[in-house]
Amino acid sequence: MPAGVVRFNTRASGKVGGSEENQFHLHELFDVPLRTGRNLIAVEIHQENPGSSDIRFDLKLTGSDQKLSQVGLVRGPYLQVGTASSMILRWRTRRPSSSVVRYGAAPDQLKGKVEIEEKSIEHEVLIKGLKSRTRYFYSIGDGEEVLAGGDSDHFFFTSPQSGSNGPVHAWIIGDSGTANANAKAVYNAYIKVKGDRYTDLWLMLGDNAYNSGTDKEYQRAVFDLYDNLLPQTPLWSTRGNHERSAEVYYGIFNMPTDAQAGGVKSGTEAYYSFDYGNIHFICLDSYDTDRSASGDMFKWLKADLEATAQTFIVAYWHHPPYTKGSHDSDRDNDSGGRMRDMRETFLPLLEKGGVDLLFAGHSHCYERSYLINGHYGKSDTFNNSMIVNKGDGKPRGDGPYEKPSPDKGANKGAVYIVAGNGGKISGGKLNHPAMYLSLNELGSVILEAEGNCMDVRLLDYRGQVRDNFRITKGD
Ligand SMILES: [Fe+2]
Repeated sequence: MPAGVVRFNTRASGKVGGSEENQFHLHELFDVPLRTGRNLIAVEIHQENPGSSDIRFDLKLTGSDQKLSQVGLVRGPYLQVGTASSMILRWRTRRPSSSVVRYGAAPDQLKGKVEIEEKSIEHEVLIKGLKSRTRYFYSIGDGEEVLAGGDSDHFFFTSPQSGSNGPVHAWIIGDSGTANANAKAVYNAYIKVKGDRYTDLWLMLGDNAYNSGTDKEYQRAVFDLYDNLLPQTPLWSTRGNHERSAEVYYGIFNMPTDAQAGGVKSGTEAYYSFDYGNIHFICLDSYDTDRSASGDMFKWLKADLEATAQTFIVAYWHHPPYTKGSHDSDRDNDSGGRMRDMRETFLPLLEKGGVDLLFAGHSHCYERSYLINGHYGKSDTFNNSMIVNKGDGKPRGDGPYEKPSPDKGANKGAVYIVAGNGGKISGGKLNHPAMYLSLNELGSVILEAEGNCMDVRLLDYRGQVRDNFRITKGD
């Protein structure tokens, strides 16, 4: 159900179909005002679509006079809006409880403490006053009981100071929300390949939980799946078309509406920017925000691009400007014209602002362009004058894509990546002429930057590197 007040005519935020119709769901009710003798319990069923032809309902009620179970951790801990001086810790419990986070330099030295006395099942604790690029161990609990942490697995690193050149390691997945063996294989391959390397940040490109982005689907596709990464690495998401419920999506994620992590204040969770080291990350909403050049998102992006002095600019949103995979960016009626809108309206502004790299999902494949500039039409208008560097970008191949420093970087080329291959692959012609490589393979992307170098790799679900390229910044 959506958040907020539920009335008799409130529609469900997702539908139940197939084998799910036979599943029973356990709901524990606490502090229920039952009395001795006869009690009346009313139950409502809400449909997503009032025209649905069927409905099914069975109820079993089990009473107990036992002392109810402990608070119970249902979800998390997971990390949001990591900055150089703060971190938000989120988790969910079965029973309402107060929220306590203890943190410190070692698992047995958790000297810092933040406590929120108000009881809730959704826990959200902001830790402030931290040192940059520093490891903090932590535990979460309700004041009486530690629910997780206080061990070597529960820690995070704060971000480096904005503009610092130190190494950055990011993991990027798109359309990963199948909650099946494919998504698990992509995740396991990454965990194995990264080894002991800490993942500084993690981008999700939307369609994070199929089929409708319900809270239950998020539990399976995100919280149950990425078990080792969630407690250690801040997760930044953009909204896909399968995140149908804004309430669920924005209820799960915290976004930097107030430029907490750098950039220009967006005032909305739908689009935002943040700095990590010498990279400026920009998240746009291609699904449910005004995509016109007179809209607030466009105005904000213009201001944000003008304000940044970072070495690299990396943008991400869900609907790709160029794709010939399971979606076709040439078809105006594909995905409500969102791919066309983002290409025609936002690419000229981003390229003028010196964007280096764009990640999108939506098409369930991997497509990666040459270093290109100025392609805003359909694929049959693409020509050689739009290719800034027609090499493969590989240090051991044709050489890296070299770009001037950002203040001289307007319209010097960007690489466009579709990485909607995190949970399923769905074929397509895979013949967009802007692409150096198009693959119908499950996988994820690793981005690493240090100094003037940024390296990008496609890691397939078996752990093989199937593509790589480098962008360097000169004088
Ligand atoms: Fe999508």
